[in-house]
Amino acid sequence: MDLTKEQLEIYRNQGFILLPEYFSSAEVEIMKAELSVLSAKKSSQKIIEKDGKTVRSLHGYHTNNDVFNCLTRHPLIVEPAMQIVGTQVYVYQFKINIKAAFSGDIWKWHQDYIYWCKDDGMPRPQVVNAMCLLEDMNEFNGPLFVIPGSHQEEMIDIIGHNPIVATTSANSSGDPPTWISSFSANLKYSLNPKIITDLVSKYGITSIKAAAGSVLFFDSNIVHASTNNISPFGRSTVIITYNSTENIPLAIKNPRPDFLVSQNYQAVTPLASDALSQFFRLYEDSQNELPEILAR
Ligand code: SIN
Ligand code: MN
Repeated sequence: MDLTKEQLEIYRNQGFILLPEYFSSAEVEIMKAELSVLSAKKSSQKIIEKDGKTVRSLHGYHTNNDVFNCLTRHPLIVEPAMQIVGTQVYVYQFKINIKAAFSGDIWKWHQDYIYWCKDDGMPRPQVVNAMCLLEDMNEFNGPLFVIPGSHQEEMIDIIGHNPIVATTSANSSGDPPTWISSFSANLKYSLNPKIITDLVSKYGITSIKAAAGSVLFFDSNIVHASTNNISPFGRSTVIITYNSTENIPLAIKNPRPDFLVSQNYQAVTPLASDALSQFFRLYEDSQNELPEILAR
């Protein structure tokens, strides 16, 4: 479903657009059921908070999980993504940020495009994020902070630091892989307080508060962050990054693993709009036991 002209204009001007309660509660429920199965599995596609036990994020599950694969092809998000980017799109990145109750850690101030440009060789910021809320995001559970309009600054070219990484992936032994510095609480290209102070005095600041099922489309150069979650409320979200099929990254040395940055450039074809709710019916028929097909 395309965005209206007004919605598209809001996106272009402020660098994001929030679409409240876009997915139904049944669609959210099936995704949360899947997430709880995936979180309990040991996997190198999973990043752990620095407490050594809380799951921080899950990556690349659109390739091996039917429900999340379906989400990436859902017309409610693929069609606006194509409209925003202006061409066909493919899934560049898929992640689920958990931000668990009481222990979910921060995301420092950053822009996304600098990672994709410098570390992955993406030619242009012809790319968009769709953040789907699986739980309510409120003032208590570390909502996303954004600086509206900050995408107009384009990529703020800073030098990445080499953080001392406290985060480990679930089953790694020895030193964590270098790509973890793009996903841990100590982000590689985080913006310093002076830059943030200046940007906030120029553009202001806001936080995204919305119910589960809402979707936020945001620009890859919007400056954003979030605090830790000391509330009793979880704050899980799925973030799908759609890149233009005309903006394929250049070949680089040491590319990040495929589950972080996909090398499958095939254009996404939208499914029927009831694709996710069909999974919910299967789930209900099995008396809320996840059918094998879903949990694999
Ligand atoms: C991100 O920047 O990718 C995540 C931000 C958040 O989940 O708060
Ligand atoms: Mn980000």
